[in-house]
Amino acid sequence: MPHDVIDVLPVSTSPLIRIRDAVLEFKIGKSWGAKRDLRVLDDISLDVNEGEIIALLGESGSGKTTLGKAMLGLHPLTSGSIAVEPPKAASSRRHGAYDLQMVFQDPLSSFNPRFTVGSSIALPLRLQLKMSEEQISERVADLLSRVGLNASFAHRHPHEMSGGQLQRAAIARALALSPRLIVADEAVSKLDVSVRAQILNLIKSLNRSEKIAFVFITHDLGVAQFLADRVAVMYFGRIVELGPVDQVMDSPRHPYTTMLMNARKGEAPVAEEAKRSAKGCNFANRCPRALGKCHDARPEVTACGEDHEFWCFNPV
Ligand SMILES: Nc1ncnc2c1ncn2[C@@H]1O[C@H](COP(=O)(O)OP(=O)(O)OP(=O)(O)O)[C@@H](O)[C@H]1O
Ligand SMILES: [Mg+2]
Repeated sequence: MPHDVIDVLPVSTSPLIRIRDAVLEFKIGKSWGAKRDLRVLDDISLDVNEGEIIALLGESGSGKTTLGKAMLGLHPLTSGSIAVEPPKAASSRRHGAYDLQMVFQDPLSSFNPRFTVGSSIALPLRLQLKMSEEQISERVADLLSRVGLNASFAHRHPHEMSGGQLQRAAIARALALSPRLIVADEAVSKLDVSVRAQILNLIKSLNRSEKIAFVFITHDLGVAQFLADRVAVMYFGRIVELGPVDQVMDSPRHPYTTMLMNARKGEAPVAEEAKRSAKGCNFANRCPRALGKCHDARPEVTACGEDHEFWCFNPV
């Protein structure tokens, strides 16, 4: 992991986005056949605070991307609510700013191959902010320089750029409308290790110097540890543990978090097959510490230490 050279500022605790009891069910099945509901977000409550980086951890299929997209309003909830709070210092907001943006895993497929990167970055400026052509080219150059790219990259097409350069450009595009929060979905997982470190440093410096909050979705515990202030561990559509990154990583309380940490140390693989318990804890059928009641009731939240919470009847 890259060495952290940026001063750590205290993280505010004013919520930027409040998620309450969010449930999201997808209808799955053939269009002509029987449909069933797949519950992908299962009663999620979470605040993301102004200026913080929160990592979403959890194995494939646990609902991380769906939660990120739901935050941007890309998936309507089945029930519950997601509210974006107005900024605390309203005067500090630039005119026309848009609150949330998303950066995806594969920078090549997130750009239109027929457009120059500059015109892709310019699109929201033209459509949402109605800027003049002169303002646009100035702003595109400024955005590129904020992500460490020379202004000449505006004239390149996506296939003329490396993965790392393109991911920088994707971040520049996300910055165009001055968001308060960027959801970054596995934004470094397709990059080489050295480039990965550069992009992580870029995200960290944008967070520290411009106070942009990030929800950083990742499978990589090392990345979470380097970047995040807090982590939320998801299992089967539920948050099972939430807290400051060092507390959750050093003293995990939920058996699933422990399993993730041990898998990282190479002690035990995280099994693929999982069946969700109908009325109990989602992890009960896989949990080495499960008690009888784990199959019958959902555990309520337990607080341990400052801001550290877990949902388990028989914690580690
Ligand atoms: N549009 C959709 N329609 C139906 N089911 C979906 C849809 N999008 C996601 N799912 C299902 O929802 C579940 C959660 O998917 P999601 O992509 O949020 O997981 P994830 O945690 O991001 O996984 P990964 O780590 O593999 O990216 C999966 O079972 C997936 O198949
Ligand atoms: Mg995903």
